[in-house]
Amino acid sequence: MKKILIAAAACTALICGSASAQETKVDPLHVDVLMKFAFSQAPKDWAGRTDQDETMKVCSATRNAPSAEQATAIMTREKTKIKYPEDGKLLGDWKKGESFAQSGYGQRFTDYPPRNPNGGNCYACHQMTTAEVSYGTVGPSLLEYGKIRKFAEADVKAVYDKIYNAHAAFPCSLMPRFGSNGVLTIDQIKDLVALVMSPESPVNK
Ligand code: HEC
Repeated sequence: MKKILIAAAACTALICGSASAQETKVDPLHVDVLMKFAFSQAPKDWAGRTDQDETMKVCSATRNAPSAEQATAIMTREKTKIKYPEDGKLLGDWKKGESFAQSGYGQRFTDYPPRNPNGGNCYACHQMTTAEVSYGTVGPSLLEYGKIRKFAEADVKAVYDKIYNAHAAFPCSLMPRFGSNGVLTIDQIKDLVALVMSPESPVNK
C-alpha cells in the first residue's frame, strides 16, 4: 500500500504536471509504468488485470471510435464470449438484483480477501429507480426500461447480453463486461435482468 502512495506522488511529478498543469501532456508510457508498479503490489490472482485484450487494444488505439470493420470484429468476438444459464431462464430475483445494482463491492484492494459477492455498481452510471436519488449519468437512465419495451422476450435477452458483455452490441462501450470478465456470476446477471425487465421491479413502477 505504501508503494502505491509513492506511485500516486510520482504521478504528480511525472505526468500530472504541476505549475503548468494544463499544458502538460500525459505521457502514456509513464501511465503504463505507474499502473504496472501499483499492480505489482496486488494479490497474485490479479496478475493480468492491466493486460489489455484484443478489444481493449483497439478501443484504446482508436479512442473508442473503431472503424466499421473494427466494430464488427469486436461485436463478433465479444458475442462468442457470452454464456447462458443451463436452465435457459434469464430472469432471476429482482430484489437480489437491486442489491447487486447498489453494491460497488469487489476487486478493490480493500476487498481482499473477498468476503462478499461482487457488486455491479449499476447506479454509478445509471438511474434505475425513482427511490434511489444518488446515481451517475455516464449511461442512459433505465427508468421503466422493461415497461417501455412491453417486457418482450427479445429485450430480456438483449439485457442479459448487455450485462454479460456490453461490447457485443456496442463496441467500445464504457460499460464493463461483467460476465465475460468474471465480475458477476450468471445467477447474479439473471437477478439484474429481473431488476431491469420484470413487471414487479421498482425500475418499471
Ligand atoms: C461505468 C459505467 C457503467 C456501469 C457501471 C454500468 N453501465 Fe450500463 N451502460 C453504460 C453506458 C455508457 C451505456 C450506453 C452504451 C452501451 O449501450 O453500451 C450502458 C448501457 C446499458 C444498457 C442498455 C441501454 C439502452 O440504451 O438500451 C443497459 C440495459 C445497462 N447499461 C444496464 C446496466 C446494468 C444492469 C449495470 C450493472 C450491472 C450497468 N449497466 C452498469 C455504462 C455503465
